[in-house]
Amino acid sequence: LNYRVSRTRKEIFETLVKGLQRLEYRGYDSAGIAVDGPTKTTTDMSGNTICLFKKKGKVKALDEELYKKDSLDLDEELCTHFGIAHTRWATHGEPSAVNSHPHRSDKDNEFVVIHNGIITNYKELKEYLKTKGYEFESETDTEVIPKLIKYVYDNRESDNVSFSTLVERVIQQLEGAFALVFKSHHFPGEAVSTRRGSPLLIGVRSEHEQLTENIPIQYNSGHFKEGVQEKNSHNRSDSFSGINSVGDGRAVEYYFASDASAIIEHTNKVLYMEDDDIAVVKGGKLSIHRLNRRAGEDPVRAIQTLQMELQQIMKGNFESFMQKEIFEQPESVVNTMRGRICFDTNKVVLGGLKEHLKEIKRCKRLIVIGCGTSFHAAVATRQILEELTELPVMVELASDFLDRNTPVFRDDVCFFISQSGETADTLMALRYCKNHNALTVGITNTVGSSICRETDCGVHVNAGPEIGVASTKAYTSQFVALIMFALMLSEDRLSLQPRRLEIINSLRMLPELIKKVLTLDDKIKDIANELYLQRSLLVMGRGFHYATCLEGALKIKEITYMHSEGILAGELKHGPLALIDKDMPVIMIIMRDACYTKCQNALQQVTARSGRPIILCCQDDPEMTKNAYQTIELPQTVDCLQGILTVIPLQLLSFHLAVLRGFDVDFPRNLAKSVTVE
Ligand code: G6P
Repeated sequence: LNYRVSRTRKEIFETLVKGLQRLEYRGYDSAGIAVDGPTKTTTDMSGNTICLFKKKGKVKALDEELYKKDSLDLDEELCTHFGIAHTRWATHGEPSAVNSHPHRSDKDNEFVVIHNGIITNYKELKEYLKTKGYEFESETDTEVIPKLIKYVYDNRESDNVSFSTLVERVIQQLEGAFALVFKSHHFPGEAVSTRRGSPLLIGVRSEHEQLTENIPIQYNSGHFKEGVQEKNSHNRSDSFSGINSVGDGRAVEYYFASDASAIIEHTNKVLYMEDDDIAVVKGGKLSIHRLNRRAGEDPVRAIQTLQMELQQIMKGNFESFMQKEIFEQPESVVNTMRGRICFDTNKVVLGGLKEHLKEIKRCKRLIVIGCGTSFHAAVATRQILEELTELPVMVELASDFLDRNTPVFRDDVCFFISQSGETADTLMALRYCKNHNALTVGITNTVGSSICRETDCGVHVNAGPEIGVASTKAYTSQFVALIMFALMLSEDRLSLQPRRLEIINSLRMLPELIKKVLTLDDKIKDIANELYLQRSLLVMGRGFHYATCLEGALKIKEITYMHSEGILAGELKHGPLALIDKDMPVIMIIMRDACYTKCQNALQQVTARSGRPIILCCQDDPEMTKNAYQTIELPQTVDCLQGILTVIPLQLLSFHLAVLRGFDVDFPRNLAKSVTVE
């Protein structure tokens, strides 16, 4: 490797910190970084040292910390360099510097590790390691990993044991979910990473024109054979956040990350690691190892080209990602429909389901499963799915579905709705349904995610990257995708054609109507001004709008920290009415649909108790204006799509309430966008 391109330590910090900031929506209570330190001639090893910086709070706090240290020379040029960084969402142990990652084997930082996931058998491992004299400094599950690798290293049979072999031995002891990246001063410039259950991808930036090759998997029966990776691997160069170059002088960089947003500004070429793959970058070459070959397994990992653009993950002129994403909805719903609906022939084709369509049509039941906002998309579309497919439709919260060991049969079709495609509860439910031989369908917004890859077939909602923790445009796109599925399935039902036509025509108009709803922003801001000091906010509706109530209340809870509840108006008299008085703010959704009269009854019950409702209603409805404290008048569309237009005012309201209350709308306390732990 004669033509290595060196980087200053400052550049390495910048690359890692920028990557972390792009991943911050996944967790942001503390962050940490490990890079090569100054060479110490006194150390017993080859003089390599690793420096560790950890800080409670957002990545910005870590960034500031890095430049405070005068112990590290920022301008020092490093040829072989490999840094790791992590932003945490606390599961075991409070948010603090010591609990944040990287975790280390010992005070000399012989091995440092970053981890996404949960190690479920950490208590047993910790007890064992304590008996061997290891002292733990944090309360985390993760800390057993660096201690364990040091233990394996100290007890290795010979000096020839490779870094990847050590990692392989470690993961054989781990239970739970993990994506791990290891760094060690015993193996300078060498990166080893692995995953099981948590996402991990490798970005490859290269000056080589042909980067379409696949990386062949190297199988090791029983043991990794030392040197195998040298012999078989491709002529590629290494490393995470560092540039090296291969023999012909062209530079190659490798980036390991939980998702593509961290690396998209460097490269759009990625390969996705599979469970138990061990990726090694060493001596300028990437190789991927597995212990044994599984039946039917693809023996290569293909380098894929992502469509994501950097601009999509920037805020542009908006104050926050959430605000940007709310205002993107006229375009994001178009992107969900693009190329899938033919408005001339009224045909709807979801390419990802085509091959399984016959099987889907033969099924006995649909089960739609998700968490949080994605679950609400299932609630929102259940009625139209039932109507157009004429099948029983169950909607399920993934965690509860699993807790109940819900009976699932081979003639069920199970849908998994997930923006990130990584939510652990949803992923577990998917595996459960697969074990019961049901057909599995993913509806996700993240190409290459675990749910995409593990389902039999699926639909990408194509809403574009969603960064704000509170989901907005992904919800409306999931909503549209599920409606399109119902339309596709009912294509040959003669009696349903007029209804289908009405919906397809309304889908065509939808982007324009969304734009009209967005023009109400100022009015909604005024309403927020009246409400922002309240402690509680009820959202009430029924029929097609029950989902809007749940979703609106969730948005309010998530980012304003006000108590909020979505109430089915039919249940008002069975309890929630006790909450109503002149002071309790109530938002009611009363559109001109089959539930209109029943909703009016609920309205009477509220006003009779001196309640002062804010009503989301159709334009020109004098009955509503008469009874409301305030109205938000919305354009009308077909009943089953109206929920898209009613949820947007509540997205805007929660946004304005949060801003007025002084909170960071993109990073609500205690939450994370992608919850990859059960
Ligand atoms: C987390 C997020 C929610 C999201 C839910 C499901 O709780 O904070 O905004 O709705 O996970 O996420 P998914 O990626 O599966 O849609």
